[in-house]
Amino acid sequence: RLGLKTRFIGQSIFYRETVDSTQKVALLLSQDKAPEGTLVVADEQTAGRGRMDRKWHSPKGTGIWMSLLLRPNIPPQKAPQLTLLAAVAVATAIEEAAGITPEIKWPNDLLVEGKKITGILTELQAESDRIHSVIIGIGMNVNQKIGDFPEELKDIATSVAMETGSEASRSKIIREFCAQFEKLYLMYLEKGFYPIKLLWESYAKGIGGRMRARTYNGVIEGRALGITDDGVLEIEGDGGKVHLIYSADIDFPLS
Ligand code: BTN
Repeated sequence: RLGLKTRFIGQSIFYRETVDSTQKVALLLSQDKAPEGTLVVADEQTAGRGRMDRKWHSPKGTGIWMSLLLRPNIPPQKAPQLTLLAAVAVATAIEEAAGITPEIKWPNDLLVEGKKITGILTELQAESDRIHSVIIGIGMNVNQKIGDFPEELKDIATSVAMETGSEASRSKIIREFCAQFEKLYLMYLEKGFYPIKLLWESYAKGIGGRMRARTYNGVIEGRALGITDDGVLEIEGDGGKVHLIYSADIDFPLS
């Protein structure tokens, strides 16, 4: 239907007008032996989910709400690398399809001039050190106008159309994403994370500067050194101690 030129990413597409969450649909499909590369796309989500149990606003027809099913043969602790890979694929797809270059805020928020254009949520199903499936959920604001966002998002969110000034084709962006993702994923499986890390760093924002990480067990502030080969964020605290950040909300620039 999308006329994809990929080998497997997006070759099996599950499109629904309305779902609760494409993550949930993809999880059910994964338990039902759906092949790697299966893509679930919805026009609207009634219970879209973000990171850290937050709600994800997913109104009808204006965004890309999709979940990609992968079955990589890698140890579960490497799954976060796929989140960073997905962020690079989305950034490149937006660049190619719409001509704007988003910045990546660790680990996986895509921003344009500080405002969020895409969020990514990775969920892992693993048992005894074997990955059963990885589901990468992508929520991209595409054709919203400022008035379409709820009040609390107006200052912090943007859309492709708001940035380019014209309506964008969602299927063109999805096609571009599938092509970019497949290229990066095959490179990752063959050569490992290092080439992806370099690409991620080329889009990253705030590395080298001061950051505040709000983690589950407290706040860490200092200079962001970069990411490790596993995709973990390193922050050097003011005493010189280097902290590894696996999961957090990041604030920067700091005043
Ligand atoms: C975040 O920034 O917190 C991540 C947002 C991820 C939203 C997407 S939309 C498609 C998929 N289905 C969901 O319920 N969530 C993800």
